Amino acid sequence: MGFYPSGFPAGMLPPGNPGDDKIPEKVPGAAGRSHAVARLGIPSLTLSDGPAGVRIDAIRGKDSTKTFYATAFPVATLLASSWDTALVHKVGVAFGSEVRDFGIDVLLAPGMNIHRNPLGGRNFEYYSEDPVVAGHMAAAFVNGIESNGVGTSIKHFAVNNQEFNRMQLNSKVSERALREIYLRGFQIAVKTSQPWTVMSSYNKLNGTYTSESHDLLTALLRNEWGFKGLVMTDWYGGHDAVAQLKAGNDLLMPGLYAQTQAILGALKSGALTPAQLDVNVTRVLELVLKSPSFRKVAFTSQPALKADAAVARQAAAESMVLLRNEAGALPLAAGRKVALFGNASYNLIAGGTGSGDVNRAYTISLAQGLAGAGYAANAPLSQAYAQHLRAEKAKLPKTRGLLDAAPVIPEMAADAGALQQAAQGADVAVLTLGRSAGEGGDRQETDDFTLTAAEQALLKQVAAAFHAQNKKVVVVLNTGGVVETASWRDQADAILLAWQPGQEGGHAMADVLSGKTNPSGKLATTFPVAYKDVPYAADYPGKLLPGATGGANSFMGKPSENTYEEGIYVGYRYYSTFKVKPAYEFGYGLSYTTFTYGKLQLSAPTLAGKITASIQVTNSGKVAGKEVTQLYVHAPTETLAKPEIELKAFAKTGLLAPGQSQTLTFTLTATDLASYNTTAEAWIADAGTYTVRVGASSLAIKEAATFQVPQAITVEKSRKLLAPQAPITEMRAAAK
Ligand code: BGC
Repeated sequence: MGFYPSGFPAGMLPPGNPGDDKIPEKVPGAAGRSHAVARLGIPSLTLSDGPAGVRIDAIRGKDSTKTFYATAFPVATLLASSWDTALVHKVGVAFGSEVRDFGIDVLLAPGMNIHRNPLGGRNFEYYSEDPVVAGHMAAAFVNGIESNGVGTSIKHFAVNNQEFNRMQLNSKVSERALREIYLRGFQIAVKTSQPWTVMSSYNKLNGTYTSESHDLLTALLRNEWGFKGLVMTDWYGGHDAVAQLKAGNDLLMPGLYAQTQAILGALKSGALTPAQLDVNVTRVLELVLKSPSFRKVAFTSQPALKADAAVARQAAAESMVLLRNEAGALPLAAGRKVALFGNASYNLIAGGTGSGDVNRAYTISLAQGLAGAGYAANAPLSQAYAQHLRAEKAKLPKTRGLLDAAPVIPEMAADAGALQQAAQGADVAVLTLGRSAGEGGDRQETDDFTLTAAEQALLKQVAAAFHAQNKKVVVVLNTGGVVETASWRDQADAILLAWQPGQEGGHAMADVLSGKTNPSGKLATTFPVAYKDVPYAADYPGKLLPGATGGANSFMGKPSENTYEEGIYVGYRYYSTFKVKPAYEFGYGLSYTTFTYGKLQLSAPTLAGKITASIQVTNSGKVAGKEVTQLYVHAPTETLAKPEIELKAFAKTGLLAPGQSQTLTFTLTATDLASYNTTAEAWIADAGTYTVRVGASSLAIKEAATFQVPQAITVEKSRKLLAPQAPITEMRAAAK
């Protein structure tokens, strides 16, 4: 069972099993692989990151005549903003064909932790603050990838919502918050897509490493949810190899000599039974039997990069979120002259850093995208930026470790003369603000969540110069995570949230800015007014335990803990229940057209097995467009406090021509309505009146209707699992 690493910085690695380094890699740069057992005909499996594209070495050895680039697809946060599971499935099919074509057995993706806090360094790898969105996106992605005969690993199971001290961190979470928020998405993904593997996380959960938790990996994942596949650790995750095997964590990655010794010792002493080891080994062998390597599937190492780039571009364009568009500032009329400001306009941030990064052949910048779409750029400005970027890049170190943050290039100070010239010589200003983050560190509030002083000054000067000449200012946000917008948004006529859109990003941005693609993305994560509005913001990312020192880096931490005092009130569940107005709410996004909603029809006044809700959506504007419609439920609170609203279903219309309508139908069952009642240790749909609220966002509710559940329905009986060691005092909603 020994697996060994690759792709990690040398010197950081504890020793693998003897002889590991002598076995040639099948796919250089892949994250890990298993030992072959030649005598038994068992091949080595190859496992590769990550959520935004296959992460392998593009160049092998000294020979650069042959390259092995993979497509950098848009990041998960962008994909979730599509609210379109068919589109995400399509991305999965294309992406999975590259996994297959490169000879990889299991893709270490999708990431599906919850966006608990906007500073989470890996939020870009994850979908949403809501488990229903995350669960359905992950399932669509898994089904798409696995349709190619290769495996996936949904990760990081579970509660890996921060990078700070991730290997020494104990997350303390109530049973209810676990079930309803942090585990629910995984449950949906397992039930809907039955992925080949699950990756346990680095952190402890209520006192036990997740990779050593029998409650999590066996009682819940397998016995309650019916997971049939294999569980692997995250790389070097957990601490007691024998406890991991007993918990149901079958594969220890990347595999250490000390672990092999511990397992053999435990077998000898009787601390580990051969029967238990057989269970783990059986699951490893079942994975081997399914794998392309075992089935000797031929592979070309030449994926269909051109076709996949087209999918990446489409997904990016259909998922970007138009946050603001005053007086029809966008789309840009054909032939406009554009003055492009901001480093990121010329240097697109395609994705995040760390294991979620992708070695891609190229990245299309916004400057290139706009040029390709026929917009002339203000040449002196573009030249000044080219010079600035060249000079700044020359100062950067030549190499960067896998977990090092991307260097931040300071914004060029706006020269008054150049600004004046640009405002005269162009029809519109586009200012791109970039943010990068990734594995190994969380983001900062200052100069990351908020704009830097240089960015604020630049925006102010650009807005003043262009508005003085009656010309518009468009801000493009090229970020993997949430940023502050409320303090500066009034200076922009339009704001396009392009997220980190993958290697085709510049083309996709131009598609949206030009109106070739009408934006139809909506936020799957809230943009709060200020960081302090995030519940328990000041306590993030937890505190070091008495006596512990240091601990900033994920691999070098000392014991710390983080108590999830907000309980179930995460994201819009918090903002809507506690009436805190966000800058842009969950579910929000504009279009170049408008939509009207017809009357909400429920199939019956009372739930009987299921209930359907239908509503007609009509394009009431002048251009074709797609609308994301969300169904929220306000549930009775007599027995249990509930959030003001919870998303239960969503759908996206097809491309509707002006005047065209489509009826969307949603089905709800007791399972969708149930909350986790810790006293009863069961999922229960309480009796009472339920209000269905259908809207264009969590705040733009268009129609509502009620139905009854006459008697409480126990949907699923569970038992006490993963309980905190001591009760957690959680935030409570005011009693009604
Ligand atoms: C990350 C995982 C990744 C693994 C292999 C770990 O550091 O947390 O997401 O799959 O490395 O590269």
